[in-house]
Amino acid sequence: MTRMLVTGGAGFIGSNFIRYQLAAYPALEIVNFDKLTYAGNLDNLRGIDDARYSFVRGDIADADAIGPAVERCDVVVNFAAGSHVDRSILGADEFIETNVTGVYNLLEAARRHGAERVLLVSTDEVYGSIDEGSFKETDPVGPRNPYSASKAGGELLGLSYFHTFGVPVSISRGSNTYGPYQYPEKVLPLFTTNAIDNEPLPLYGDGRNVRDWLYVDDHCRGLDCVLRHGAPGEIYNIAGENERENIALTHRILELTGRGADLIRPVKDRPGHDRRYSIDASKLKALGWRPQMDWDEGIAATVRWYQENEWWWRKIKSGEFLEYYRRQYANR
Ligand code: NAD
Ligand code: TYD
Repeated sequence: MTRMLVTGGAGFIGSNFIRYQLAAYPALEIVNFDKLTYAGNLDNLRGIDDARYSFVRGDIADADAIGPAVERCDVVVNFAAGSHVDRSILGADEFIETNVTGVYNLLEAARRHGAERVLLVSTDEVYGSIDEGSFKETDPVGPRNPYSASKAGGELLGLSYFHTFGVPVSISRGSNTYGPYQYPEKVLPLFTTNAIDNEPLPLYGDGRNVRDWLYVDDHCRGLDCVLRHGAPGEIYNIAGENERENIALTHRILELTGRGADLIRPVKDRPGHDRRYSIDASKLKALGWRPQMDWDEGIAATVRWYQENEWWWRKIKSGEFLEYYRRQYANR
């Protein structure tokens, strides 16, 4: 593996992954191919000054653009996606375009080119909600919102390309990820930056939904383990092993920002809101990976990062973001 194509590398997890790979593998070259949607941000890669790294602006849903990029590389890691459930409920077009058609284009290009490996970065949300216990990779998918359904669609195409054409596709299913450079539409950076500004925290429903929080570095190490030690045609869960109710997460953010519970604003629930996500990561752990970040330390470091990097999020929380915020939260 000498040259890696990272699609969606200007987003949250992709940018953290690029930093991690450049630091860990001195001989590796990385091409970052990203459309720079509202969520793509070259500030996420600021400070990378390395001849082994290059950026191409392009859309994976455009077969003519993604084909040549795939041909230049040995390995493809796809992060490019519409990634926010609430936006997929407001309108799913771009989710189908990128998460299904875009993945199809990537797979076709990888098939023609004979790529060494394709890693489709997916999500535990494809399983749907589980009240007790944890999903394993052998469980059927049951996505319940347009985002997770489109991710499941991309995954199924990937597996079909493995079985039909022998394209060496692996799939990872990570749980809710947190850390620096996360677009402030997701609950953790949204609530943190709102709390810093003394603005209300819009908590959906009864606040008892459960998410399994995975620190972004642990997610990146999990992806690396899948790439280097996982098998083609296989799916790997990447769990934080750190399940929290949203209300508990909210109180922690308030404590860390020195704000009171009066900022919590219970609002109408998300339609089709999955109650609990939980996955079993034994399969990846058998390859030597495990989550390392302690939750108290991880959340404290993350909140501190947003406190210390207002330059990064203040310019995002303007323009397009404010228009989205109004559509999503006004009259809720
Ligand atoms: P993000 O929204 O922060 O970043 C997505 C990136 O993809 C952006 O840079 C955007 O510009 C780019 N992009 C979008 N459409 C594109 C297109 N058509 N062509 C090229 N680039 C395009 O997302 P994220 O949170 O970093 O998630 C990355 C991946 O990880 C996604 O596939 C997501 O489904 C998956 N995932 C995310 C989480 C999470 O908690 N954030 C958890 C598990 C899995
Ligand atoms: P989110 O960060 O959107 O991730 P996902 O929906 O992919 O799990 O939401 C995490 C949890 O936080 C989810 O249960 C919904 C809840 N939530 C709120 O209560 N208020 C909000 O404003 C947002 C964005 C999410």
